[in-house]
Amino acid sequence: MAILICGGAGYIGSHINKQLNKEGYDTVVFDNLVYGHREAVKWGTFVNGDLANVSDIEKVFADYKIDAVFHFAAYAYVGESVTEPEKYYYNNVVNTLNLLKVMKEHGCKRIIFSSTCATYGEPKKVPITEDMPQNPINPYGATKLMMERIFKDYHKAYGLEFVVLRYFNAAGCDPDGDIGESHDPETHIIPLVLDAAGGNRPDIKVFGTDYDTPDGSCIRDYIHVSDLASAHLLALHHLENGRESDFFNLGNAKGTSVLEVIDSVKRVTGRSFNVVYADRRPGDPAKLVGSCDKAMKVLGWQPQYADIDIIVSHAWNWHEHAKY
Ligand SMILES: NC(=O)c1ccc[n+]([C@@H]2O[C@H](COP(=O)([O-])OP(=O)(O)OC[C@H]3O[C@@H](n4cnc5c(N)ncnc54)[C@H](O)[C@@H]3O)[C@@H](O)[C@H]2O)c1
Repeated sequence: MAILICGGAGYIGSHINKQLNKEGYDTVVFDNLVYGHREAVKWGTFVNGDLANVSDIEKVFADYKIDAVFHFAAYAYVGESVTEPEKYYYNNVVNTLNLLKVMKEHGCKRIIFSSTCATYGEPKKVPITEDMPQNPINPYGATKLMMERIFKDYHKAYGLEFVVLRYFNAAGCDPDGDIGESHDPETHIIPLVLDAAGGNRPDIKVFGTDYDTPDGSCIRDYIHVSDLASAHLLALHHLENGRESDFFNLGNAKGTSVLEVIDSVKRVTGRSFNVVYADRRPGDPAKLVGSCDKAMKVLGWQPQYADIDIIVSHAWNWHEHAKY
């Protein structure tokens, strides 16, 4: 029996692959390497395949006995999803339907899915709980919400068992430094600020300093990627123990502003760099913070690395010594 990790050569999937192998699971990583890194797949078996090709998916299910699927493969650039929605609806929705079809044909009933706080759109209040309205404001968030609805329907009709995990801002890197975050192009704030600290970019831009937040910059909820990984393992155990298909937020229930992230990078790296203050970007909510009480209560999840300086120091260690 093996676990299939679609998108397991990417940032988050590679960290889950490591933890699954540590717990003794056999894993098969399926990735077309459009954004992933072959070097990030240090455990399990690697299969180069594309979810757009049903025959690639059929082959992996024919070659391995797949017990459950972790599904990270998607496009996740919010701005691009606005200018090229077709690309997002195809990869994030149609290609996931391809995966579900082959799972159904092979009697594989369990899936753990990467959803996002972007499904909530602009929340009326924080912390955001799972039962709050989901009104995504961009096609990226809409694709993830569509998949959430499809899982519910497939559950009722075909008995699909799912856990949907709505991540807030994934951050940090493997504490051992084996794997890390390397997106191209990079849009996530911590690697961008680390690039400024490392002298690889001239400055860091702060978009908006007049938000209704204590220091005027946007507040986000940063969750260490290894804490995300431990939640995925618990989600798998949840389904293995025959418990209900469900939806969970994964964050730290703690807001950190853009200026606080910059201060943390200065503290951790001991470097100074230029900070440029710019106008707000359209569609950036002032504050996104998730309640993770449900994941703690139902899954028994306990984040280990909630401190922003620890998150930044693991990312900096990777950034300086081991980047792919
Ligand atoms: N990074 C975050 O903060 C964050 C927050 C919320 C949700 N998510 C979601 O988590 C998941 C993983 O995010 P990430 O940051 O690790 O992204 P990533 O781009 O590093 O990983 C995605 C992987 O999927 C692969 N892939 C994409 N399309 C594919 C296809 N058609 N066939 C096979 N492989 C394909 C890519 O090559 C890549 O390796 C995504 O679904 C994303 O939407 C991420």
